[in-house]
Amino acid sequence: MTAAKPPLIVGIGGTIGGVSSTERALRIAVAAAGEIGFRTRIFGGDALAQLPLYDPRATERTEAERAFVDAVRDASAVVIASPGYHGSISGVVKNALDLLEETARDPRPYLADMPVGLIATAYGWQATGSTIAALRSIVHALRGWPTPFAAAINTQITKFDDEGSASDPAVLAQLRLIGEQVARFAPLAGGLAVPG
Ligand SMILES: Cc1cc2nc3c(=O)[nH]c(=O)nc-3n(C[C@H](O)[C@H](O)[C@H](O)COP(=O)(O)O)c2cc1C
Repeated sequence: MTAAKPPLIVGIGGTIGGVSSTERALRIAVAAAGEIGFRTRIFGGDALAQLPLYDPRATERTEAERAFVDAVRDASAVVIASPGYHGSISGVVKNALDLLEETARDPRPYLADMPVGLIATAYGWQATGSTIAALRSIVHALRGWPTPFAAAINTQITKFDDEGSASDPAVLAQLRLIGEQVARFAPLAGGLAVPG
């Protein structure tokens, strides 16, 4: 008899073209769920850049598109991280979320029944709030369950490093809390039984 695979948490987010504080924040949150026992898969800036602009009428999907959609299909929980671009989520992150339209006719469409943790970075406070509000609306539209705490990170103040840490311990704790909250609710979607 083979042991059941641990539940999967999928992280989606980051920016393209270099070091991304958004992706670094995402990795901290997802790692916290990994420490609890979740399998983890992250689609960061590089992976999101491989996704073509979503064409709802395309008859074939690229390998990168299939990998992304299959990972979300397999997931018990998701964390989404976006920079605030002009007061809302970035096109790169939105393009990936648009691709979830491919799951519309699945037994579990979109992000249905899944806890979804949210992170927004911006170079100031105002866009962190509006970006989180936009992410919450999108997750509701995708039938997911945004977890109560979302991390708003002002990258004017908080700096991330190569070692997976951040200059502000409070931000680190907030990001870890997101991973932990998502993990705690994932059992509703068939995940691990996490005490607490
Ligand atoms: C196209 C673009 C639009 C942006 N718009 C805003 C904005 O409206 N408000 C804000 O505070 N920061 C804005 N920023 C700054 C980014 O949100 C901020 O630097 C973010 O932390 C970048 O994340 P990254 O390090 O993952 O690339 C913008 C940056 C870019 C490139």
